[in-house]
Amino acid sequence: MIEIHGLVHVYPDGTRAIDGVDLRVEDGERIAIIGQNGSGKSTLVRHLNGLLRPTSGDVLIDGESAADQRVAALAAKVGLVFQDPDRQIFAGRVQVEVGFGPRNLGLRGAALDASVAQALAAVGLASEANRNPYDLGFSKRKLLALASILAMGTPTVVLDEPTTGQDLRGVERIQGVVADLHAAGRTVIAVSHDMRFVAETFARVVVMEAGRVTLDGTPAEVFAAANWEALARTYVEPPLASRIGDRLGLGSTPTDGALVGALVAKGA
Ligand SMILES: Nc1ncnc2c1ncn2[C@@H]1O[C@H](COP(=O)(O)OP(=O)(O)O)[C@@H](O)[C@H]1O
Ligand SMILES: [Mg+2]
Repeated sequence: MIEIHGLVHVYPDGTRAIDGVDLRVEDGERIAIIGQNGSGKSTLVRHLNGLLRPTSGDVLIDGESAADQRVAALAAKVGLVFQDPDRQIFAGRVQVEVGFGPRNLGLRGAALDASVAQALAAVGLASEANRNPYDLGFSKRKLLALASILAMGTPTVVLDEPTTGQDLRGVERIQGVVADLHAAGRTVIAVSHDMRFVAETFARVVVMEAGRVTLDGTPAEVFAAANWEALARTYVEPPLASRIGDRLGLGSTPTDGALVGALVAKGA
């Protein structure tokens, strides 16, 4: 379980990136964090694995303040996939890159090989195990960064803009990864500005504006027409299905499934 209390983060240059955030995440939740560029999403999630420390307020992981936990201990609980894969990748071979995290957590031999193979298969990179990460294109380096975190088997996985640069197949792969993590009872938190991906993949949506949380609810609640003005303030446009459903007087239909269901129920 993750609890964030009164979190404020001011960068050394004086930028107040997080301006008082309270958030409680139950085990097994799937949460998307959305909001305009610069609203503090990356800064917020970087507190979850101790990469950043609060200026004030507190982040509790399993009831214990992250500030009191060693980075190595936090790494076993929360895996964070960076927004920029090139800030995460350092090894000269894909297999070594993905093995680094689980090796640090003490895995060796067959167990290590299995976790690496499983993570590479999950992101569709099994055939690239012996390549140099920098010979892969950007979209594959993003998937490699994801595999490196998956291989660690952390109870919580945090993804910062996972779908950037992905084609439809890549997005579906990431949706599959989120579904598998969820089925395994793990917590998934993703920062994203792909609203279709957000609505189709996550059960809860948290909206950030200027370092604060302004909306928090299910996709149907957050993307309801009553919130469109608030969403526009943070440059979020609701998913196309929401806009079609509203235009047709069907209520809040944030996913394709919800839209079709509402149409069928209406006898259209
Ligand atoms: N290392 C940093 N030093 C100073 N300011 C930063 C740093 N990283 C981010 N910021 C600023 O903090 C604010 C929030 O940034 P960020 O958390 O990256 O937002 P988001 O992920 O929502 O785009 C922005 O104003 C950004 O320019
Ligand atoms: Mg960001």
